[in-house]
Amino acid sequence: MSEKQVIETEIDPSIPPEVAVFSYYRNAEQHGANLLFRLLKHLPEPDAQIQLSQHLADETRHAWLWTDRIVRAGHKPLVVCDGYQTRMGRACGMPRDVIDLMALTVVVEQRALRRYQQHLRRPGVDADTEQVLRAVSSDEAWHIDWIRKYGRQLAAERGQSGRFDEAIARYRKADAEVVALMESAESEALGGDLGLDEAS
Ligand SMILES: [Fe+2]
Ligand SMILES: [Fe+2]
Repeated sequence: MSEKQVIETEIDPSIPPEVAVFSYYRNAEQHGANLLFRLLKHLPEPDAQIQLSQHLADETRHAWLWTDRIVRAGHKPLVVCDGYQTRMGRACGMPRDVIDLMALTVVVEQRALRRYQQHLRRPGVDADTEQVLRAVSSDEAWHIDWIRKYGRQLAAERGQSGRFDEAIARYRKADAEVVALMESAESEALGGDLGLDEAS
């Protein structure tokens, strides 16, 4: 959670903390859609274009589902200036090529899925939020599978076997650092342990 957002929720007690959390989820889904737009330009193969189009439609729908959840909570989405992917961009720099771009996509998708699963395990999740969490999680497995498979294939075709997995390892390291910082800021802002550790 950014300092701006923490301040915003602190100075405006009418904004429930969950609205800030949903706004971060919405922001991450929108950034995920943006990554796929970029991949559309780099992966001209027709079957990849079909998969990317479905994948992109899913991510924009996920962003809408969080937007709609915020509206049902009686609020409007908060502006998120320093969300997960912005921080990842700062930590990792620009992807060098399409192999990097696909590896980054796998890591951010895995993070989204893990975060949604962790949220589902929290005590007291309301039925509406649970339904949205399940709906957005249900697409992530095939998203991760096809990008990972195609990324490995492309790297091998370019005589760079192993480079895709090396890029994933690099992005995972950055992801762990970014998420540790965000979770500690979130826990502080929302007051105490959120039960987001791996054992939860
Ligand atoms: Fe998504
Ligand atoms: Fe996804």
